[in-house]
Amino acid sequence: MALPDLSVDLGRGLVLANPVMTASGTCGFGEELARLFDLRRLGAVVIKGTTLRPRSGNPPPRVVETPAGMLNSIGLQNPGIDQVIAAKIPPLARYGVTVIVNIAGDSPAEYQELARRLDGVPGVAAIELNISCPNVDRGGMVIGTHPELAAETVGAARSVTSLPLIVKLSPNVTDIGIMAQAVVGAGADAVSLVNTFTGMAIDVERRRPILARGVGGLSGPAIRPLAVYQVWQVFRALGGGRGRPARVPIIGMGGIMNARDALEFILAGASAVAVGTATFVDPWTALEVVEGIEQYCRRHGVQAVRDLVGAAQEAAGAEVEQHDGEQGGEHDGE
Ligand SMILES: Cc1cc2nc3c(=O)[nH]c(=O)nc-3n(C[C@H](O)[C@H](O)[C@H](O)COP(=O)(O)O)c2cc1C
Repeated sequence: MALPDLSVDLGRGLVLANPVMTASGTCGFGEELARLFDLRRLGAVVIKGTTLRPRSGNPPPRVVETPAGMLNSIGLQNPGIDQVIAAKIPPLARYGVTVIVNIAGDSPAEYQELARRLDGVPGVAAIELNISCPNVDRGGMVIGTHPELAAETVGAARSVTSLPLIVKLSPNVTDIGIMAQAVVGAGADAVSLVNTFTGMAIDVERRRPILARGVGGLSGPAIRPLAVYQVWQVFRALGGGRGRPARVPIIGMGGIMNARDALEFILAGASAVAVGTATFVDPWTALEVVEGIEQYCRRHGVQAVRDLVGAAQEAAGAEVEQHDGEQGGEHDGE
């Protein structure tokens, strides 16, 4: 059998060699990973959330390990957009890897200004709008949990750049499908999900939250079933179904540790996936996921990975259909 075709088209000319990227904030600006392996073997590198001005982030402690995951409250520590454009993107782009810049702001106007500055910068393949950061007091998740504000933010960025726009959705909403519809209606070329789930850990001896900021974002394998289901829901909310693609491609993430995990997201409806927390455990994970997906395709006689997108939706029985439409029901409380 010929090599399986792993390429994915994320819209507006953004075509990746394979569906595996890094998740923003979990590999900095790619420097450390570049010392370990050829970054071109990944579909893309998504760099740390970048803001208009430099940010030092939240005070420590800002990371805590939890059962099968971690809480972080980094708070978008980054050197600011000017420094990122001048000093971070050029060396990364020289490796020949597809570079996606993750941006975060306080208001639609700030996202617009960030998008304006990135438009036309050599080496930038796409922008990911992080409207879902749980670790900042203004902007971030506030925008990502209000459909109108999210749409306004995407529209503002859309009006100043022809770069592909990926919008990163928050899982901390009642219906993520409504958020996906709002941002796609405003011009998003793709959606990525999920960002972290808001959570907290308490030091019982000291009787106070462990993180200095109190709350943080939960990531890692603990969130994977929740994230897979949100991808499943967004695929349907965007018109995907049996044999029908979603209106825009979905990038799935949340606790991916290996190729099997990544395939869950793809079969639920994701065209591509991102590896985050796993990189802290084993920095080769993303590469192993690429290789594992390729092996899976060979083993199952799959000619193109895109043929797997949403395939579990086709197989889903009446039970899933029914449960999707229900609020509660007999599974309540499980
Ligand atoms: C330490 C840390 C920093 C993060 N920073 C960002 C960020 O700057 N921008 C962003 O959009 N997401 C950020 N995220 C969220 C991840 O990109 C990803 O959406 C989330 O962690 C779920 O994937 P995972 O379980 O594979 O880590 C961060 C996550 C972690 C753990």
